[in-house]
Amino acid sequence: MGFNMRYLDLRRKIRDVRMWAIQGIAEAGSGHPGASFSAAEIMGTLYFRRMRHDPSRPGWEERDYFINSKAHSAPGFYSTLAVAGYFPSEEVRTLRKLGSRLQGHPVMYSERQKNYSVPGVEYSGGSEGMGLSVGIGIALASKLDGKKNRVFVLIGDGESNEGQIWEASMAAGKFKLDNLVTILDRNRIQQDGFTEDIMPLDPTKDKWAAFNWQVFEVDGHRVEQIVDVLNKAAQVKDKPVMIIANTVKGNGVRHMANNPQWHGKAPPKRHTEVLLEELESECLIAPSIIAGERENYEDKIRKVEREGVDMIHIDVMDGRFVPNTTFFADKIKKLRPSTSLPFDAHLMIEKPLEQIQEYIDARCDIITVHAEVCTENEFREIQERLIVNGISPGIAINPDTDVPEWLYRCLHDLDVVIVMSVNPGFAGQKFMPKVLPKMVEVNKKLREHGFKGYIEADGGIDATTLQQAYDAGARIFVAGNAVYGGGDIHGAVIQLRHKAAVALERRLLNHATQLNIRPDWMKARKHILIPYANELGIEEELHAVK
Ligand code: DX5
Ligand code: ZN
Repeated sequence: MGFNMRYLDLRRKIRDVRMWAIQGIAEAGSGHPGASFSAAEIMGTLYFRRMRHDPSRPGWEERDYFINSKAHSAPGFYSTLAVAGYFPSEEVRTLRKLGSRLQGHPVMYSERQKNYSVPGVEYSGGSEGMGLSVGIGIALASKLDGKKNRVFVLIGDGESNEGQIWEASMAAGKFKLDNLVTILDRNRIQQDGFTEDIMPLDPTKDKWAAFNWQVFEVDGHRVEQIVDVLNKAAQVKDKPVMIIANTVKGNGVRHMANNPQWHGKAPPKRHTEVLLEELESECLIAPSIIAGERENYEDKIRKVEREGVDMIHIDVMDGRFVPNTTFFADKIKKLRPSTSLPFDAHLMIEKPLEQIQEYIDARCDIITVHAEVCTENEFREIQERLIVNGISPGIAINPDTDVPEWLYRCLHDLDVVIVMSVNPGFAGQKFMPKVLPKMVEVNKKLREHGFKGYIEADGGIDATTLQQAYDAGARIFVAGNAVYGGGDIHGAVIQLRHKAAVALERRLLNHATQLNIRPDWMKARKHILIPYANELGIEEELHAVK
């Protein structure tokens, strides 16, 4: 855990948080999936990447404090603490059970009642509106004692109807508490409806600024933006910080997303396996910026960033390993400040170990080298150096290359395996279907040997080939020509997302069929399935579902 956590590792851990939380809620038959999921990236980034804390010493004097004031997000909070190492994750399945210490709302940890309280919990939440005041008390005391502890408080937008929140915010402004960071989980839903219908909160930013807070705003599901804004918050002087995190209630499960009915309702236990498959199947779109017009990379990055892609695929070609030359680390360094989107660097170079430091210094988030030009020792050294620098290591294999036997000894801390679906060297080539059986085999065998990373499909991915690669196990999709080659970037990204969604829904439907819950699943999923019914060939069946 800590400041150096790798981008893909952070995403994976947050995915695990959602998976434990949904198991606990389904097992208990009650709980709050909505808030657990809207705040997952916020809590995960704090515990896995930002806060100074030590699960083996919950009472560590110098720890940073996290006050979860929207305590009904308990299943997500408990799961975050568990994945962080405060207690075994399996215990989340005892949520709300008689005798379990994981009750509906968390109890502040104390040695005296350690069987009824949870290590890592700093505040007994429940009735909302009070956590910020507690956070201010801790921040003020730390300042008066000359301590360096930082205090992070999570509040909700429904909770912001409470008058106490605004009393507290005045006090924090008065005491210039620059060791206090409050994050607003702005999911625009409370209990039984939409916040702006019940008690409009906007203009939220102006309110907090008017109370002398430094206010930032981010996409609350983008870990790279949350990491960035927490770094900025640490630089703020003489003002408390408010981070407005725009989130989606129930994010992660498509039929729960932005749906008030999933505020405090549990899914049927029989849906658990299918929901876990959905949570495990998040897929990432990574446009390759060498495609389309030459150069103008900043503009190309900005255009796809506007379309909400997940990361930027950067193809480095040295003209020796492949018959083409693109650019090198110095160019990537110049591009770095243009976006907070993660850089997925694909090094098609002959001697990666010799040049790896330059790409580390260029601050890529993922660096993938080719198996064809690495020995086991060289790759191990590259892998170690990337990991200590908080960079996700990846390996790529060309269409005619099999997974080298030695790679099975390097699967721990390997985040990406690129299965090339074209011979590397150029964008705009035709997808090679012959790699699909290999992709299936590679995905299967690597996971049998403990691989927890992502299979990345690179080469000729578009709206006609993405589903095949998805079904073969890919979850990261590089798209060059499909995005930049046609002049309609917006339409292209939407189509890729649509195809990925169809592939996901088909997979979940098949799983539900195997579990004999198909009609039941279709009922729960109806409003999600309607736009895909034709492509899934389920129009009549779906129509019959009442
Ligand atoms: C090819 C590169 C790919 C390529 C993708 O060697 O590794 O990333 O640029 O472009 P498309 O999607 O057009 O094949
Ligand atoms: Zn590539």
